[in-house]
Amino acid sequence: MSEQLDWSSLCGSADSGSRPIEPEKQADWSSLVDWTSLCGSADSGSRRIEPEKHLGWTSLIDWSSLHGFSLPSQSLLLKWRRHPPQAAGWPPFFEAEARGLALLAQTNTVRVPRVYAHGPATGARPAFIVMEWVDSAPARRDVGGLPARAADAAGAKGSAATPGALLGRQLAALHCATADAYGLDHNNFCGDTPQDNRWASSWVEFYGQRRLGFQMELAGRRGLMPRERRWRLERLIAGLARWIDEAACRPSLLHGDLWGGNWLVDAAGRPVLIDPAVYYGDREAELAMCRLFGGFPPEFYRAYDEAWPPAPGRDERIPLYQLYHLLNHLNLFGEGYGSQVDAVLQRYVG
Ligand SMILES: Nc1ncnc2c1ncn2[C@@H]1O[C@H](COP(=O)(O)OP(=O)(O)O)[C@@H](O)[C@H]1O
Ligand SMILES: [Mg+2]
Repeated sequence: MSEQLDWSSLCGSADSGSRPIEPEKQADWSSLVDWTSLCGSADSGSRRIEPEKHLGWTSLIDWSSLHGFSLPSQSLLLKWRRHPPQAAGWPPFFEAEARGLALLAQTNTVRVPRVYAHGPATGARPAFIVMEWVDSAPARRDVGGLPARAADAAGAKGSAATPGALLGRQLAALHCATADAYGLDHNNFCGDTPQDNRWASSWVEFYGQRRLGFQMELAGRRGLMPRERRWRLERLIAGLARWIDEAACRPSLLHGDLWGGNWLVDAAGRPVLIDPAVYYGDREAELAMCRLFGGFPPEFYRAYDEAWPPAPGRDERIPLYQLYHLLNHLNLFGEGYGSQVDAVLQRYVG
């Protein structure tokens, strides 16, 4: 397997030395991994792996001439899908995840796991992403999601030092990263659903067409859009400017799918964001998603609002922005979410 590495570019002809090497740039990870033993026959899954045990590093490295080969010494997370969602005009599923994590990382506002490799499904190999494993203890909700072992350390400092409060401040800082328009330079996925990120200069247009309208079309094709529901949703989209003040909106970088299952707390008590569906959108859409399924302590919201106070009327728009994710759940999981969708529609259009 050693021919897969470009050894001359790695070592040159120097007698001795050390140099940092990015494994993902220098090695074809996908061929290093024994996929059958890692993934078995499961269609999809995730597992923690120890690189030394599962990747054939030792046999790949010419130890006599190579020094300082920098490999991840920590555990890794491997996620795989044999049949990931795909769509024409969309990047491969895990490429979209990696690009989203990279965009979040670039802001230096909140920790995200480092991605080492990803690739589409080919032959027997499933589509995969390999990233840094984040050691996280089970959350203790009574102390704001603080992992048990970090709780005592932070206890004396009060709730301002909890991971929830940190996340609130860091998310507000993330939202300060802005663009000139709403959308993104590539499409991605929200859960398993394609997310249309074509740029728009108006947030009302973007949220109406690319978010609500896109989900409406999808639900229609799947037989989940009875006549009354469609009628109300069309009216809501047409009248969005009644509830949204375009002038008060900003294209902020959003995680995009921030529910309680998509943030972790590391061993040092720091929040970590995973599994994003990033785009530049109004920050109220993000906070509404946080509230939809719970999983964020009160100090998270307090810290966010302190760092960046809400625009007037924010609370009245929460269900409006939750509607996108409810429609997405309708499309992903079926009519079980129909009544929640209808309740939001009735609230705004009667
Ligand atoms: N980098 C990571 N380190 C440790 N655990 C992780 C990491 N990423 C994800 N997990 C765990 O796996 C779960 C699912 O991961 P996620 O990326 O959200 O995938 P899914 O697409 O299944 O939602 C998370 O809720 C978390 O418990
Ligand atoms: Mg997730």
